[in-house]
Amino acid sequence: MRHLLSPLDLSVEETDQLLSLASDIEKNRSKYAHVCDGKKLATLFFEPSTRTRLSFESAMLSLGGSVLGVSSADSSSAAKGESVSDTIRVISCYADICAMRHPKEGSAYVAASKSSIPVINAGDGGHQHPTQTLTDLLTIKSLKGRLGDMTVGLCGDLKFGRTVHSLIHALVRYPGIRFVLISPPELKVPDYIKENVLDANHIPYRETTNLDDAMEELDILYMTRVQRERFFNEEDYIRMKDCYILDQEKMKLAKPDMFVLHPLPRVNEISVEVDDDPRAAYFKQAQYGVYVRMALIMTLLEVEKPC
Ligand code: CP
Repeated sequence: MRHLLSPLDLSVEETDQLLSLASDIEKNRSKYAHVCDGKKLATLFFEPSTRTRLSFESAMLSLGGSVLGVSSADSSSAAKGESVSDTIRVISCYADICAMRHPKEGSAYVAASKSSIPVINAGDGGHQHPTQTLTDLLTIKSLKGRLGDMTVGLCGDLKFGRTVHSLIHALVRYPGIRFVLISPPELKVPDYIKENVLDANHIPYRETTNLDDAMEELDILYMTRVQRERFFNEEDYIRMKDCYILDQEKMKLAKPDMFVLHPLPRVNEISVEVDDDPRAAYFKQAQYGVYVRMALIMTLLEVEKPC
């Protein structure tokens, strides 16, 4: 039995296979309509979500399976003090696979250690969000035709943004990746990721506070929201929340084949006028989230690919 707790739980070869499966699902959806007949997905979301929870549910329904779950801590027995360990032991009796989001870093690892069904980390605090990364990889591969040999700008809240942390872990495994890390000084990529992932893999990167200066060198710009829910102090959040706003003036500085990604939800960091730019890929990215989650459910449940 396998879990997905970090992007590194899949080798590069397995990741590439999963992305190929997701691409085939996109082109031939009806072929996969019954591959999970009789299977159940539990969605345990102890933190708010629109895309991740609903795309998981859409994915399982599209595979012929069914879904059950909780959409907030308040609507489950977590509100009465039940532990993650006890919750997953019970959920293992009700479902074949579980996607879990929790505000505490490491919670998915605790769940996996007690689970008798595959556990998918759908976001654990400010730590990791591996299924968003699979979505991001599929989007980049579809748009650029490759996952290496490019300069990726990561912009915004690089300290608390779990999607950024997981994406860095995944992309450093492809040759020719360079990063420009664009953030206020207080929201830089944590040192443990710079040292253990970027430096350890000899990945070229530079840090800057200036988005305008970086625009022209980027092949991908990955914008992120300042993660209000992770701040200890509302004043700090208010001071930094609008530190970067991507607008059409900034887009004029970018290459014609540069693409803008964002895991969403967005607040102010991308002006709505950018939505009409053909390089704005964030809603397409949300659509790809369904295909990769279909592919992931099939992979973890060891469902055979139909002919
Ligand atoms: N990208 C993402 O995780 O969105 P949700 O918080 O809506 O699930």
